[in-house]
Amino acid sequence: MRKKIIAGNWKMNKTFDEGMALVSELSNMVKDEYNGSAEVVIIPPFTHINAISRMVAEISNIQVGAQNCSNHASGAYTGEVSAAMIASCGAKYIIIGHSERRQYFNEHNDWLAKKVDAVLANNLTAIYCCGETLEEREANKHFEVLHAQVSEGLFHLTKEQFSNIVIAYEPVWAIGTGKTASTAQAQEVHAYIRNLVREKYGVDVANHLTIQYGGSVKADNAVELFSAPDIDGALVGGAALQSRSFVDIIKAMK
Ligand code: PGA
Repeated sequence: MRKKIIAGNWKMNKTFDEGMALVSELSNMVKDEYNGSAEVVIIPPFTHINAISRMVAEISNIQVGAQNCSNHASGAYTGEVSAAMIASCGAKYIIIGHSERRQYFNEHNDWLAKKVDAVLANNLTAIYCCGETLEEREANKHFEVLHAQVSEGLFHLTKEQFSNIVIAYEPVWAIGTGKTASTAQAQEVHAYIRNLVREKYGVDVANHLTIQYGGSVKADNAVELFSAPDIDGALVGGAALQSRSFVDIIKAMK
């Protein structure tokens, strides 16, 4: 059975104290209320990673991640944070290629491929995001766009390296808009992505690949989304900023 992962991407939200309060509530609720199989990943701003990793160190089903990293290992890159630094703070995951990075920071597939390498060089798992814009979907170009994003960002990797890849399908038109992809739309894309991976790396790699859905996931749509055979969890934005709504999504994954 492949790993199920529910990750909460805080984006640029929560001061340090607010973040600590949220994690303390969240970790107690996960301990008390959740006995399902999913791994929970908290993905706060860089400044909070070390403290949160220490807070959740004893909780086996909660891990910590980062939202981005440099493609360089170290050096004169003012303002950047390396994957090694993130690993040294206790994180296990790094999101690469979130649509906000693609859109506002001009990160393209070839650039993201280097970031994926930096993540894997530090024995971390990359959560590689892909997803089409509304325009691309309306022009019926979504499969083409997803094919380019997945192949150009990831298909330089070896079969062995692919075991440290998670893919998150996040249609840009569903992020922060309250407009979720229907379960059928998400399932169709997840199956398409798994098939691309199967063609490139074979059935074992494809069957073990965790593919998360992201884009306005809430407790009331999570149960249905998670019932689809190729949806292995969620990358949650807005609903992860509050303990109750995030835990209710986690509980939707049995
Ligand atoms: P949302 O964000 O859940 O607020 O739509 C998802 C994401 O950007 O990862």
